[in-house]
Amino acid sequence: MLETERVLLRPVEESDLIDLLELQWDRNLMKYMNFKPLTLENQKDWLKSLGKDNMAFSIFLKTENKIDLIGLATLNQINTIHQRASWGMKLKSNIQSKGVGFESSLILINFAFSNLNLMKIHGDIMYDNIANRKMCEKIGVREEGILVDHYYQNGKFRDVVLVGILKEEFYLKNNEILTKLNLI
Ligand SMILES: CC(C)(COP(=O)(O)OP(=O)(O)OC[C@H]1O[C@@H](n2cnc3c(N)ncnc32)[C@H](O)[C@@H]1OP(=O)(O)O)[C@@H](O)C(=O)NCCC(=O)NCCS
Repeated sequence: MLETERVLLRPVEESDLIDLLELQWDRNLMKYMNFKPLTLENQKDWLKSLGKDNMAFSIFLKTENKIDLIGLATLNQINTIHQRASWGMKLKSNIQSKGVGFESSLILINFAFSNLNLMKIHGDIMYDNIANRKMCEKIGVREEGILVDHYYQNGKFRDVVLVGILKEEFYLKNNEILTKLNLI
C-alpha cells in the first residue's frame, strides 16, 4: 500500500483534477517550477497522456475523520533499460514544511525501488528552492551537478541542481524511518 498512518498516495483519478488545478494556479507554490496556466481540459489531456512511462499520484492527508487531497507526486520518464525515473512533488502551500513532502517522497521512492525494480531516482530542482533541496538532503538524495541558466522564468535565467539517489543508498540512509512508518 502506498500509505503511512497520515499520508496516502493513489493514482490520480479524473475527479481529483479540479483540486489539482488549484495547485497549478498557486503562484507561491509554482514559483520554483515552470508555471503554465493550465485549464481543466489541459489537465484531462495530461491525465490521458501519461502512458506507461509516467505515473501520477494524488497525495492525501488523513486526519481523524476525513481525508483531504493536498498534493501531487509524479514518477516521470520511467526508463526500464536504464532502470531509473525522475520524481516530482507539489503540496498545497498550507501543508508545506510539516514533514509531509519527506514522508510522501519516502512512500513514492520506496514504491519505485521495490515495485518497479528501478535502481535510481533523480530530479532537477531550481537552485534557490531551499525547501526542496533540504528535503532531498534529508532523504539522502545527492546533488550531482548544476545546469547554469537552464530555465527562463519570471524574466530571468535560473540555475538548476541535478539530484539523484541509488536504491542501495536510499535503503541504507532511510532504513530506520521506513521501518517506523511501516513501509518496509
Ligand atoms: C518541496 C516540497 C515538496 C517539500 O515538502 P515539505 O513537506 O514542504 O518539506 P518537509 O516538511 O518534508 O521538509 C523536509 C526538510 O526540509 C526542510 N524545509 C522544509 N521547508 C523548508 C523551507 N521553506 N526552508 C528551509 N528548510 C525547509 C525542513 O526543515 C525539513 O527538514 P527537518 O525535518 O530536518 O527540519 C514542498 O515544499 C512543495 O510542494 N513546494 C512547492 C512545490 C515545489 O517546489 N516542488 C518541488 C519541485 S519538483
